[in-house]
Amino acid sequence: MSLPKAELHLHIEGTLEPELAFELAARNGVSLPYADTDALREAYRFEDLQSFLNLYYELMAVLRTERDFADLADAYLTRAAAQGVRHVEMFFDPQAHTARGVAMGTVVEGLWRALEKSEETHGISTRLIMCFLRDESAASAMETLRAAGPYLDRITGVGLDSAEVGHPPVKFREVYEAAAALGLRRVAHAGEEGPPEYITQALDVLGVERVDHGLRCMEDPALVERLVRERIPLTLCPLSNVRLRTVDTLADHPLPAMLDAGLLCTVNSDDPAYFGGYVGDNFDAVRRTLGLGEERLRELARNSFTASFLEDDEERRAR
Ligand code: ADE
Ligand code: ZN
Repeated sequence: MSLPKAELHLHIEGTLEPELAFELAARNGVSLPYADTDALREAYRFEDLQSFLNLYYELMAVLRTERDFADLADAYLTRAAAQGVRHVEMFFDPQAHTARGVAMGTVVEGLWRALEKSEETHGISTRLIMCFLRDESAASAMETLRAAGPYLDRITGVGLDSAEVGHPPVKFREVYEAAAALGLRRVAHAGEEGPPEYITQALDVLGVERVDHGLRCMEDPALVERLVRERIPLTLCPLSNVRLRTVDTLADHPLPAMLDAGLLCTVNSDDPAYFGGYVGDNFDAVRRTLGLGEERLRELARNSFTASFLEDDEERRAR
């Protein structure tokens, strides 16, 4: 699906394909507990979010140098361009790297090497969103924001990801206040596995402008009405929801009902190397399985630019 689109929910670490994982492992002298890429792919059978996160964090061991992060981002941008992506707001998880002794500067400088030439090389404009791991402490999130100080000219916003249930948005009130004071944009994962109240908290306590996933809003009609009224974008990830068993099958995905309700939905890939497809593949899957027509697909593509952090003139150029 090559309709021009923006991707607003993409974890760069979740684009690590098995082939690149083995290449980086060899380059860095890291041994992986899988015989080959086929054996690794066999491990891509997830029960839930946590079972995926275990593998996602394990494989990050191969990412060690600026060059590794640059290669990772460049590989993603190459694939994204082929699927019609014109703009990406890319998540990264600094704590997953700093906890392994890889400095914040290595991560940001490495990603930046690929991002700074992305418009020229791939025709894709970019933004970086730094996510806090919600299953780590609020103090660790605050320390991460402090460590990002020297790189804030390259970071557009903050997000919140990792294991959701038991880690409500309210835990991160102070760090989101500090991020807002620094002029950073705010998003958060909410309502992926967690309850609708986490979505409300993300809006009211963290002041987010956009909700990542937000799927479980459908359990609370008053919340749906609010999201419609306030035009809060949701960054949905249909293939991710199937692989992490948030929905039983793609045919059961509430995307059509969400569009019918008037929600500002976007379609994204989340962790495409793990979930069986990049953003164009997600568009293809919802077209085929949910029977979305041309007009709905155009609406989704349009929404992706509307919901982005692009300025109006940049948005016009990207569309
Ligand atoms: N980190 C990477 N992918 C994620 C997801 N789908 N939910 C929460 N945290 C994540
Ligand atoms: Zn995500």
